[in-house]
Amino acid sequence: MTILVTGGIGFIGSHACVSLLERNHSLVIADNLCNSKIEVLDRIKQISGKDVVFYQMDVTDEAALETVFSLHAIEGVIHFAGLKAVGESVERPVRYYFNNTVSTMRLIQACLKYKVRKFVFSSSATVYGENTVPFVENMPLLPTSNPYGETKKISERILEDTWRANPHLSVVCLRYFNPVGAHESGWIGEDPNGMPNNLMPYMAQVAKGKREYLRVFGNDYPTPDGTGIRDYIHVMDLAEGHVAALEGLEEGFHVYNLGTGKGVSVLELIHTFERVNAVSIPYRIVSRRPGDIAESYADASKAKRDLGWETKRGLEEMCRDAWRFERGNG
Ligand code: WQD
Repeated sequence: MTILVTGGIGFIGSHACVSLLERNHSLVIADNLCNSKIEVLDRIKQISGKDVVFYQMDVTDEAALETVFSLHAIEGVIHFAGLKAVGESVERPVRYYFNNTVSTMRLIQACLKYKVRKFVFSSSATVYGENTVPFVENMPLLPTSNPYGETKKISERILEDTWRANPHLSVVCLRYFNPVGAHESGWIGEDPNGMPNNLMPYMAQVAKGKREYLRVFGNDYPTPDGTGIRDYIHVMDLAEGHVAALEGLEEGFHVYNLGTGKGVSVLELIHTFERVNAVSIPYRIVSRRPGDIAESYADASKAKRDLGWETKRGLEEMCRDAWRFERGNG
C-alpha cells in the first residue's frame, strides 16, 4: 500500500516507518520537523535499504495536503504528527488544541475527498484519566488534567463521528501506553529537544553523565514500592502494532490499547536499567509531579484477539536499546 505517514520523522513515527518499509509498503512522509531532525530521514532509508518520499510541511496546511493527495495515490494514512509535551500544553493550550485537532480534521477531510479509506490515529492512554487499572478500551473516558490529553480525546471523537457519517471508512485509534527504547541498530531513537520530560530519556542522560541525578516524582503512591506504575512498551513493538492495525483493518471505527499489560514502577525501571547496562543511576526522591496518576497499564487482550498483535520485547531489551541509542547519539 502507499501510506501517508504524518510525523514520520519523530520518535514513534520513524520506528513505524522502518516496520512499514520492512513489509514493503511505499511511504510518503509529511513532517514539519518542529521536534525532530532531518538526519532521521536518512537513517530510516539506511536501516530499511529503501527510499521514501518526504515533504517538509505542516499537516494543518490545507494547500500542502492538497498537493500531497493530488500527487500520490495514497491508500492509507497514519497520523503521528502532533505536539506532545504535557506541561507545555497547560501553558499554551490554544497552540495544542489548534495543532492537534485541526491536523486531524484536515487529514480526514482530505481522505474523504480522495476516497482514502484507511486511517490510523496516534492516541494515548492519557485519555483514560484516573480510571482503575487495567485500562480497557470500552471504559468511559475520564477528564485528563491537561490540554494534550483532551486533544487526543477530541481527535478520537472527530474521527468516530466522521466514520458514523461515512461508514465505508476504516478508522483505528491506537492508545499508546509508555513507548521507550530504540531501534536495535542504535541509529534511531528518542531524541527530545532540551530537557527530557519523560522518565527513560532522562534516565539515559543521567547514565551518560549529562544530568547529575534523576528525580523520582513521589514515593508515597498507593503502589507496592510507593512510586508510579506505568506500562512501558518497546517502540519497535509499538511500530509493529501499527502494521498489524493497518493490514488487519476492517471497515468500522476501532480502538486498541497498545501496551504490554504489565505495570512497572519507577524504581523497578531504574534498577533494571542499572543492571542490564552496568551503569549507575543516582536518584533523589522528590515530591509528586502535578497531574501524574499512580498507576497506568493496559488490558492488552483486544489487540491480540482482533489483530493477532502482542508485544515481544521485555523491559531488559527496552533498557538496553534506549542506552545503546543514547550512548551513540545526543
Ligand atoms: C513515567 C513515570 C513519573 C520523569 C507522559 C504523558 C503521556 C505520554 C507519555 C506522550 C511517572 C515518573 C518521570 C522523571 C520520574 N505522552 N518520572 N522522574 O507521565 O506516564 O506519560 O508521557 O507523548 O500522555 O502523560 O510518562 O515518562 O513522564 O513518567 O519519577 O524525571 O516516571 O512520575 O510515574 P507519563 P513519564
